[in-house]
Amino acid sequence: MLNQEFEIAVEKVPQDQLKSKPAQDKLGFGQFFSDHMFSMKWNRKQGWHQAAIQPYRQLDLDPAAMVLHYGQAIFEGMKAYRAEDGRILLFRPQDNFARMNLSAVRMCMPRFPEERVLQALRSLIYLDREWVPRSEGASLYIRPTMIATEPMLGLRAAEEYQFFIIACPVGAYYAEGFNPTTIYVEDQYVRAVPGGVGDAKTAGNYAASLKAQIAAQKKGYTQVLWLDAREHKYIEEVGTSNIFFMINDVLLTPPLEGSILPGITRDSVLQLARDWEIRVEERPISIDEIITASENGTLQESFGTGTAAVIAPVGELCYKESSIQINQGTTGPLAKRLYEELQGIQFGSRADHHEWVVPVR
Ligand code: COI
Repeated sequence: MLNQEFEIAVEKVPQDQLKSKPAQDKLGFGQFFSDHMFSMKWNRKQGWHQAAIQPYRQLDLDPAAMVLHYGQAIFEGMKAYRAEDGRILLFRPQDNFARMNLSAVRMCMPRFPEERVLQALRSLIYLDREWVPRSEGASLYIRPTMIATEPMLGLRAAEEYQFFIIACPVGAYYAEGFNPTTIYVEDQYVRAVPGGVGDAKTAGNYAASLKAQIAAQKKGYTQVLWLDAREHKYIEEVGTSNIFFMINDVLLTPPLEGSILPGITRDSVLQLARDWEIRVEERPISIDEIITASENGTLQESFGTGTAAVIAPVGELCYKESSIQINQGTTGPLAKRLYEELQGIQFGSRADHHEWVVPVR
C-alpha cells in the first residue's frame, strides 16, 4: 500500500548542538554524517507513516529484526553538489528512486512514493545545506536505505520496514582520486547468477563481494572485476561500479541482462557518448576479447562508472596472474572528457541538455 497522504514532521537539531564539520581536505568517503536524517516506517495497516526529518540518530532495532537474519536491505547512492552560484544540485534523483523501487519489488519489500520521498530529500538537503562541501570535486553523498524491521524469525517477507536517508560529505572514493586504478579479474568467486539478485541494489551483493575484494587488495589491486557465473568468461562489473572498454574506437559495456546493476552513471555515459557520436555497443564482452585487444594494440582505454566512483580510469588489469597495462597505465582521453563533462553538469557549470540536474530549492 502506498499511503500518499503522509505528512513530513520536522525536528531540528538546536543551533548550539549542531555538529562541527570535518576539514574539507580530510573528507575521505563515508565517515562523517550530517546533522539530520529522513525516516519513515511501513506496516500493512498504515502503509508509509511517521515520515520525519529529525536529528541524525541511532536506529531502534529489535535483535530479531528480519533484516539482521534474512537480509532484506536495499539502498541507493546519490550525491548533492554545490554549484558556483550557490545552488545545491541533485543528479537524476528520480532515477535512483525508480531503481530503488525495482530493488524493493525484487526483495519483496514495499514500494514507496517516489515524488514524496524526493520532496523529503530536497527538504533534508536544504536543511543540511552547510554540509555540502565547498572544495573542488567534493560532494554530499546521500544514502537512501530500506530495511525489514519486523521482529520475527520465521522465513517470509517482513511486514514492517523502515526507510531512511542519511548524508555524508565525501571526497574521491578511491585513494587514487582520478588517477588510474588497478583491477584484478576474479575467476573463482562470482558476484551474481542469472535469475539471482545481481541487478538489485541489495546489501547481500556487497557482502558477497568482500572475500574476493580482500584477496585482490592483498595482491595490490584496488578492485575486483567480476566474470559471469556460468562460464567465468564474460565481463560483468567492478566491485563498486559498471565497466567500460574502448576498443578500436568503439565504446563497449556489458548489457543489462539481470546480473549487473543498471547504473545511473553508466546510463549517463552511454547517453553522452551517443551525443558525441561515439559508436557504442552494449553486448557481452569476453575477457579473452580484452586480452586479444591488448595484444593487438586496439584496447585504447577502460574505466569504471558509479555514483561514488564517478569515472574511475583503469590502468592495469590482472587476469590469471598475468597483467596488462591499459593506455600505458594513464587516464585515457575519453575517461577524462566524460569526467569533466559529467562533473561539469553535476556542479552546474556545463549545459544540462538531458535535464538531469534537480536543484534542491
Ligand atoms: C555508489 O556508487 O553509490 C555505491 O553504492 C557503491 C558503494 C560501494 C559505495
